[in-house]
Amino acid sequence: MPADVTRVDIDLETDLAELYALEQRVVAATPAVLDTHSTDGFLAFLNAAGPVTVEGWRGPRGQLVGYLAVSGAGAVLELRSVAVDPSFQRRGLGRTIVRRAVELARLRGAARLELATAPGNEAARALYAGEGFAAVRLSTDHYGDGTDRLILAIEHP
Ligand SMILES: CC(C)(COP(=O)(O)OP(=O)(O)OC[C@H]1O[C@@H](n2cnc3c(N)ncnc32)[C@H](O)[C@@H]1OP(=O)(O)O)[C@@H](O)C(=O)NCCC(=O)NCCS
Repeated sequence: MPADVTRVDIDLETDLAELYALEQRVVAATPAVLDTHSTDGFLAFLNAAGPVTVEGWRGPRGQLVGYLAVSGAGAVLELRSVAVDPSFQRRGLGRTIVRRAVELARLRGAARLELATAPGNEAARALYAGEGFAAVRLSTDHYGDGTDRLILAIEHP
């Protein structure tokens, strides 16, 4: 993990505007990422597979520079979203965040950690492959907006 970041809990009631501002910076820089268009749309996306737990990472000035959202309490933990502020990328934070998701899956006793990513999202795919995720299947029209997603998973995290 970069030395100048700290992991924090994110409360979606008090921190949503700040989290969505980060998400908008990420969407603007990464066409492959789904644009949820509003805080309500973003909240609905995060919670679409059940209530989410969100953790954030704050940089040296306290600014939010990354986050993860996971949902699921049973056999499958879903990594709903991972993002790093464009100005903070390529410094190892994405890998830290994915490793935290794997740790959360273990702590919750999940048999599988699963996520969906755009087939053309080269940065995300390289990150996930490096952390042991394997392709499970292609999900066509995954979000109902005509775009496909690749389902990746780690079994027995
Ligand atoms: C994917 C993302 C989270 C990576 O975050 P990051 O902090 O830059 O990642 P790291 O610095 O920890 O990089 C870890 C590995 O990911 C891969 N990677 C990261 N960015 C990459 C890029 N632009 N091109 C190719 N590989 C990349 C590399 O394998 C890298 O390892 P290396 O630095 O040893 O080469 C970040 O690019 C991001 O937020 N993207 C937009 C949101 C998104 O796509 N989220 C995933 C949706 S499923």
